[in-house]
Amino acid sequence: MREATVRAHANMALVKYWGKRDEELILPMNSSISMTLDQFYVTTHIIFDDQMPADSLVLNGIVASSSDHKRISKFLDLVRVLADTNARAAIRSINCVPMAAGLSSSSAAYAALASAATLALGLRLTPTELSKLARQGSGSAARSIYGGFVEWLMGTRNDGDDCYAVPLESANDWNLYVVIVIVDVGAKLISSREGMRRVVATSPLYADWLNTVESDLKVARTAIQQHDLPALGHVAEANALRMHATTMGAYPPFTYWQWATVEVIHRVQVLRSKGIQSYATIDAGPNVAVLCEQQSVAFVQDAVSSVRGVSQILVAGPGPGVREISGP
Ligand code: PMV
Repeated sequence: MREATVRAHANMALVKYWGKRDEELILPMNSSISMTLDQFYVTTHIIFDDQMPADSLVLNGIVASSSDHKRISKFLDLVRVLADTNARAAIRSINCVPMAAGLSSSSAAYAALASAATLALGLRLTPTELSKLARQGSGSAARSIYGGFVEWLMGTRNDGDDCYAVPLESANDWNLYVVIVIVDVGAKLISSREGMRRVVATSPLYADWLNTVESDLKVARTAIQQHDLPALGHVAEANALRMHATTMGAYPPFTYWQWATVEVIHRVQVLRSKGIQSYATIDAGPNVAVLCEQQSVAFVQDAVSSVRGVSQILVAGPGPGVREISGP
């Protein structure tokens, strides 16, 4: 039986991936650092069969859209080339990343799919090879191969061979928490793919982003190594706000923020002035993720729950990397 079941967790970027230098191979303009999250994961079962006429994908019990099918088949073609087969696949995926969370569920989805498909076809890829493969499904998926704290190296080669993630610190080593403050559940107007494209092509602020990201990475690496929350938090918050500034400098300008996004950032900064170590970061959407240690989680929840427009608050800790699990 050419089948496998794999689980992978979503990750939250602390130094963001923002901008591509190659859209096809998904090569980023800068390296990035993330934390893999324990509470949000995707479980994928895949079975390859020579008799099946086409790939099929059932997501949370519902047949996926034709655009999702197209994207998945294109990705599986990469695996079929590696395994020298034409067999089509039936995929069933359960997504435990709440849609509302605005978290990149594609990071978990493509890490799980890359691992499940290669295992099912008997390819024993190293984590580095798996990270390069997952990257070609969704950039942030390169990081979800590993648990804990992870860096995705941008590389310099045109073929992407030096563009993959490496683990920095394991999930068990530091009890850092992320409080995810949901301010909007609707689909965003501008996808991260389109947002990056527009910013790279038109925002004069993008050059400053690239000029500062190396030093952000350096500070973040050391802070993670030393379990230094103030150092990591300050750099993560600054990096996120700088990334969002590039969208406002783009043409036409845009922002992922809503009213409540700004108010939550403000409340986190007020909390900090009162001695509660908490720091905001925001992906390509309106929701805010607040970094803090376990003893501060309740304070953060309390500070942001009364903000008008906040609909849900979720809490996650550091999670594990991709792994095979038993059963379909
Ligand atoms: O991997 P994508 O295409 O979902 O892009 C993710 C981009 C950000 O979430 C904004 C930053 C990041 O590093 O995850």
